Amino acid sequence: MKSVKETLLERRSTRRYERQHISQSHLNLIYAAIRNTPTSYNGQQFSVIDVSDQETKIKLYELTNQKQIKTCNHFLLFCADYNKITTIAKAKEIEMPHFVHTADGVMVGIIDASLAMMSAVVAAESCGLGTCCIGYARTAAPEKIAQLLKLPQGVFAVCGLAIGVPREVNDLKPKQGKELVIHNNYYRTDDMTSDLLEYDNRITQYNNTRSGTTSNNDWASHIIDYYHEAMNYKMLDALRAQGFDIIK
Ligand SMILES: Cc1cc2nc3c(=O)[nH]c(=O)nc-3n(C[C@H](O)[C@H](O)[C@H](O)COP(=O)(O)O)c2cc1C
Repeated sequence: MKSVKETLLERRSTRRYERQHISQSHLNLIYAAIRNTPTSYNGQQFSVIDVSDQETKIKLYELTNQKQIKTCNHFLLFCADYNKITTIAKAKEIEMPHFVHTADGVMVGIIDASLAMMSAVVAAESCGLGTCCIGYARTAAPEKIAQLLKLPQGVFAVCGLAIGVPREVNDLKPKQGKELVIHNNYYRTDDMTSDLLEYDNRITQYNNTRSGTTSNNDWASHIIDYYHEAMNYKMLDALRAQGFDIIK
């Protein structure tokens, strides 16, 4: 197994996988790590759909256009989940407050599901497996994916994770420096423009010279283009369809 340091510092997204199965012991470790994720109130407001059936993976690929979903060995969909607590509340005749209709209720589910995904990433990467988070599993066709995977009311997809035996080792992507990420004691008050421009240049250089497909993309325009695309997502409608209706 890789050390914690190597697992965390050498991690990069892997989008091409061998046609090889993940061993049961590796899968068990990934499941155990997911289950031991810290969660809000220990409420465990998340569930994971482990999709290993090839036909279902192909359907998910067709809905999202993300090839990794059909070529990976296991595709895990991390969901916010209030169905479980609602079910036990009914059985124990405890009145269920409308927490799912609050912004914090939605955030709690997203945080729990996201942390669970990171547990899976770390466990899988420590076993030498390759991973790639897939946000399009949330945004591309939320209603159709909810129907395909039979998500009940109170459950919505937060993010997918493709896992498989890596067929590629991408270059590590440069990340923002410590001065932009870690603020000491309070949010830095000086002008950070030059640090941001330096990072933007580093990404442009990386995109120009990385192995595989190169591009002239800088960081800022590329990310802001994504935001433009994301402005068209109908996430509130998708949340409402799953029983989350944020009211003030
Ligand atoms: C929440 C989330 C959603 C993501 N969605 C996608 C996706 O839909 N497709 C994809 O190819 N990569 C996706 N990624 C991977 C990012 O593009 C990748 O993490 C980022 O470019 C940094 O590269 P690195 O992981 O190699 O460090 C996603 C990552 C996160 C954390």
